[in-house]
Amino acid sequence: MTKSTEKHAGTPGGATTADGGARTADTEARNVDAEARKGDAEARKGDAEARKGDAEARTGDGGARTERLTKVYGTGTTAVRALDEVTVTLPGGRFTAIMGPSGAGKSTLMHCVAGLDAPTSGRVFVGGVDLGALPDAKLTRMRRERVGFVFQAFNLLPTLTARDNILLPTTLAGTRPDGEWFDTVVRTLGLGERLGHRPSQLSGGQQQRVALARALITRPEIVFADEPTGNLDSHTGAEVLTLLRRSVDDLGQTVAMVTHDPAAAARADSVIFFADGRVVDVMDAPTPGLVLDRMRDLGGAA
Ligand SMILES: Nc1ncnc2c1ncn2[C@@H]1O[C@H](COP(=O)(O)OP(=O)(O)OP(=O)(O)O)[C@@H](O)[C@H]1O
Ligand SMILES: [Mg+2]
Repeated sequence: MTKSTEKHAGTPGGATTADGGARTADTEARNVDAEARKGDAEARKGDAEARKGDAEARTGDGGARTERLTKVYGTGTTAVRALDEVTVTLPGGRFTAIMGPSGAGKSTLMHCVAGLDAPTSGRVFVGGVDLGALPDAKLTRMRRERVGFVFQAFNLLPTLTARDNILLPTTLAGTRPDGEWFDTVVRTLGLGERLGHRPSQLSGGQQQRVALARALITRPEIVFADEPTGNLDSHTGAEVLTLLRRSVDDLGQTVAMVTHDPAAAARADSVIFFADGRVVDVMDAPTPGLVLDRMRDLGGAA
């Protein structure tokens, strides 16, 4: 009754996007930071090696994948099958975009893969670790230490300033924030003038940028961003995409981003197309034109 949806996004180390023009500008910006980042990248590599020896046997490459992931909300006649046996890979060190019509299950997929919501059936692996096999405390720790999440609804704490919202993950973990990285994130996202403001004193776009900064501040291995450019003007949106692209290219992070914008999707290494809780297509080396064509083929707004 359920059609197989075994698709895999990305070809390891293979294709890149074809938006060469936009990339040239990015390259310029990247070069400036490259030197400073090298040291960080090395340190992260060391961490990664150490983590390899961790007690949990990991088979993954820092990315995430699902096996026949199903999520049903509610029961009986009101039940909604938000995810229907989804088998998909978000390759490590790659930038994957997720597109599909409203209600297709994109946010549900992100929540389940990030360990924020429990699936009805099927399995989720993050960095080779089976989330379903982790006790609650370990799942919480894994989320805190290895995953960054930008919610569609921001989920900022209203009583905290922008600065304290951004630093919340480090506060919770009891770790010292990296001041240089904080400055880079805040500068890139144009939040320098707003750090003392509370969310109610910020525009929607500014709140979105604070949420993104919060997800990036610990330099997690995998970042889930649910429509991170949805409320931004085109200039800030482009900067956010550049930051995500850089976090993949320079820091080796894994990024999964939901978007409705073909130009934003084209900044990714591959695009997963979703409809009715299923993967209907995967595109490597996307361009805005190709993504738009595919959205039209799939019948409507992605
Ligand atoms: N907590 C919930 N309880 C019941 N149904 C839910 C819940 N969350 C989502 N759904 C339903 O699951 C389906 C998938 O929702 P989801 O939010 O994942 O879609 P989406 O692709 O992210 O859409 P959008 O582009 O509008 O954000 C929808 O039919 C939605 O109404
Ligand atoms: Mg959504």
